[in-house]
Amino acid sequence: MIEVKNITKTYKTGDIDFQALSDVSFTIQDGEFVAIMGPSGSGKSTMMHILGCLDTPTLGTYYLDGKDVSVLTDDELADIRKDKIGFVFQSFNLLPRTTVIRNVSLPLVYAGLKKEERTERAVASLIAAGMDEGHFHHKGSQLSGGQIQRVAIARALVNNPSLILADEPTGNLDTKTGEIVLGTFQKLNKEENRTIILITHEHDVAMHAERIIHIKDGKIISDRKNDQRKIIS
Ligand SMILES: Nc1ncnc2c1ncn2[C@@H]1O[C@H](COP(=O)(O)OP(=O)(O)OP(=O)(O)O)[C@@H](O)[C@H]1O
Ligand SMILES: [Mg+2]
Repeated sequence: MIEVKNITKTYKTGDIDFQALSDVSFTIQDGEFVAIMGPSGSGKSTMMHILGCLDTPTLGTYYLDGKDVSVLTDDELADIRKDKIGFVFQSFNLLPRTTVIRNVSLPLVYAGLKKEERTERAVASLIAAGMDEGHFHHKGSQLSGGQIQRVAIARALVNNPSLILADEPTGNLDTKTGEIVLGTFQKLNKEENRTIILITHEHDVAMHAERIIHIKDGKIISDRKNDQRKIIS
């Protein structure tokens, strides 16, 4: 499904070129749960932006479902994102005075769906994300950190993506709440066969994935199966 070949990303600031990713290659099959782990500044978010079709590499190719997406225009990339990819970011901007259901269904307004269908899909996503039904009509400002993160996952699911990219999704959560969120990703992976790519700098978080790709200074230093995987049931 994902095939990254010799990707390099160079950022230009003034006269200086900085290589955030250098000659990175890997393949991720449909239905895998992979952690991309590395210290701050190692290139994780840069990688996520490329994998998520938010940015293109300077060199190299990226095949997503057999299509070379490294050469697409911004509009074409936006279409791919809408069809295939769900994003969960570390700090999710929930609209504070808007209900949970509406926060989740908002992207569907732009997709031109009717209100009943938007609500139906938002409810299904919230249930899949492990959100308690009693909170569906709460406002964004009335939720805990863990609940906000579950709304973020629901929002990522609402377009029914085959690929979910999560950048430090548990970064702002305590350990216990973080485990619940990681368990939700495991469930979405196992029961719904969605491909999950989890970006983290924390070893304990990466241990929830079935495979760990380690990056440092923009290069892969290891890529292996996680034999001591932590499963949350
Ligand atoms: N738009 C940009 N312009 C110039 N340099 C950038 C840009 N974005 C990122 N960088 C640099 O590229 C390197 C990798 O950044 P990136 O955000 O991918 O790291 P990261 O692994 O996600 O770090 P963190 O864990 O702190 O989020 C950093 O040295 C950063 O300063
Ligand atoms: Mg980052």
